[in-house]
Amino acid sequence: MYAKFKSIGAYVPPKVLTNKDLEKIVDTSDEWITKRTGIKTRHITEDEVTSDLAYKATLDALKNANMDKEEIDLIIVATITPDYFNMPSTACVVGDKLGIVRPAFDISAACTGFIYALANAKAFIESGMYKNVLIIGAETLSKIVNWKDRTTCVLFGDGAGAAIISATDNKEEAILDIDINANGKYQDYLITPGRGVKYGCDTDKIYLEMKGNETFKVAVRTLSQSVRDILKRNNLTSDEIDWFIPHQANYRIIDAVARAIDMPKEKCVLTVQKYGNTSSASIPMAINEMYKNGKLKRGDMMLLDAFGGGFTWGSALVPFSN
Ligand code: UT7
Repeated sequence: MYAKFKSIGAYVPPKVLTNKDLEKIVDTSDEWITKRTGIKTRHITEDEVTSDLAYKATLDALKNANMDKEEIDLIIVATITPDYFNMPSTACVVGDKLGIVRPAFDISAACTGFIYALANAKAFIESGMYKNVLIIGAETLSKIVNWKDRTTCVLFGDGAGAAIISATDNKEEAILDIDINANGKYQDYLITPGRGVKYGCDTDKIYLEMKGNETFKVAVRTLSQSVRDILKRNNLTSDEIDWFIPHQANYRIIDAVARAIDMPKEKCVLTVQKYGNTSSASIPMAINEMYKNGKLKRGDMMLLDAFGGGFTWGSALVPFSN
């Protein structure tokens, strides 16, 4: 049995925050944000929480799969902004919102969460345990950034993407390969110190903190290596890839990694300008954008990559099979 990428869906909260809006909140400028990151706008939740975004993205993915919610066997949510620290999992809450009783759990792999969720879904399906796995990347990062810290608050946004990974006996549809990695040596580079048992909740360290420049350098190095490796071990070059769909943290990181594998600009999917960095949601949101615009077609080979807190990073070769 193989695992295929059956369908995609997404949801973005309606409220838009522009760089000009941010100029009124912190000492920054549209020019600085655009030049250093490529970001122009990001979407921010008002009343909604992460499970609401995840639920709405799931409805979209189910519709696009022409599938009933009852067909879902397992729910996996990748998030660093769960409804609750530490239980119940956001996946349990999504199951409740969907009105189904299924195994459900969250994955904590920061911005690489969607690729980790994909690897889990693939393994569950290939083992024969489940047929249809719902994987979701959902974030309300606006709730954990420090709106007084210009080095982080301009970077992030909210949103969710959901995918249905299903069993198939057709090898041509199969997810080809997934590479996931982690190195806890870098745990302090990108961290939300509070809310866990180390600092507890009774602390001012409840916000996301990042050593941006150091993170940037490790991200470019490790991601370039990961995408080079996955292409090499599958005897592929950028010619055989239809769409490079990277985690959307910074267009400069995307550009550097694309250059490392000679990926032409026309094949690089960029949504960071619209949504900012939405962590685990950024890849499925970008896939959905391509699908919605009619550009992503059945059989197209996608190269995904992601990097985030931990550090975690990874890549995947995935034919689109909707
Ligand atoms: O998704 C998970 C992984 N995340 C990432 O991969 C993000 C990685 N990091 C980055 O994308 C970039 O490092 C940033 C966009 C965060 C920062 O860009 P940078 O080119 O690395 O800038 P920097 O941190 O070296 O800061 C340059 C200058 C500093 O001023 P001085 O010390 O040169 O006077 C900062 O204080 O820019 C200043 N600065 C700002 N200025 C205006 C930092 N943030 C801002 C801001 N507006 N928002």
